[in-house]
Amino acid sequence: MSIYPFAKTLNIAHRGARSLAPENTLAAARLGLESGADMWELDAAVTQDEELVVLHDDTLERTSNARQIFPQRAPWSVHHFTLAELRQLDFGAWFNEQDPFGQIAAGKVTAEMQAGYVGLPIPTLREALLFTREHDWRVNVEIKDAGGTPGGAFVAERTAALIEELGMVERVLISSFNHSYLLRVKAANPRLSTAALVETYIPDPAALVQGLGAQVYHPGEDCIRLEEIAALRRAGVEVNVWTVNDVEQMRALIENGASGIITDFPQALHEILAEE
Ligand code: G3P
Ligand code: CA
Repeated sequence: MSIYPFAKTLNIAHRGARSLAPENTLAAARLGLESGADMWELDAAVTQDEELVVLHDDTLERTSNARQIFPQRAPWSVHHFTLAELRQLDFGAWFNEQDPFGQIAAGKVTAEMQAGYVGLPIPTLREALLFTREHDWRVNVEIKDAGGTPGGAFVAERTAALIEELGMVERVLISSFNHSYLLRVKAANPRLSTAALVETYIPDPAALVQGLGAQVYHPGEDCIRLEEIAALRRAGVEVNVWTVNDVEQMRALIENGASGIITDFPQALHEILAEE
């Protein structure tokens, strides 16, 4: 099995199905799987005691109760907490309180689902990878920039080694905004697929991706023109666009040959792909 190429557009659940469950938890991953997504996306960060965990923000405040449990530890940087400390936190209850995508109000998240979110733990990257393997699934691991912290020295190599140890090289696509990490991943294991994340328009993305020895381009949806996609794919560069929640934009990307769409609503994308 290999991540690429695929004839159809891949449905990639962003931080799991995070419109329906707390992002970057195994509950969100499970809903992404059940929604028919081809793979999920997660964010990888490093703790103070050098453990790899799944978390988007540099700080714990938005997606956990760190402020209540550790009131003296502002600004609650993940890099200043051990895994044992993170395990004391609730990474799910905030979703029920904030309903970040309005899906509780819309009746899409049952009371039973909400009850299951209370007390959800932060996953380690190992747990997230094992969940993926157990379900014969695939995952896009985005390595968050750990620059300026001790983790910056080893996060790329440690991630590559963990994937190799678990026998998951062909199930994982590694991405990062920090393109030096992609070079380091390739140096650690050339068989790993890598993707260059960008959040500005790049005039020559093929040169960027090929210069990094990567296979895939991950532009924000405002950072690529639809008419550029076909040429990139002809040049051998796969194109996964993030984060696309508008169904008309999903349709346009499919029509223009995007290799993947990273979305908070994999359930909606699944319906569109089923129609195609
Ligand atoms: O990997 C696509 C997307 O997740 C990148 O941005 O901030 O949502 O991690 P962000
Ligand atoms: Ca991400």
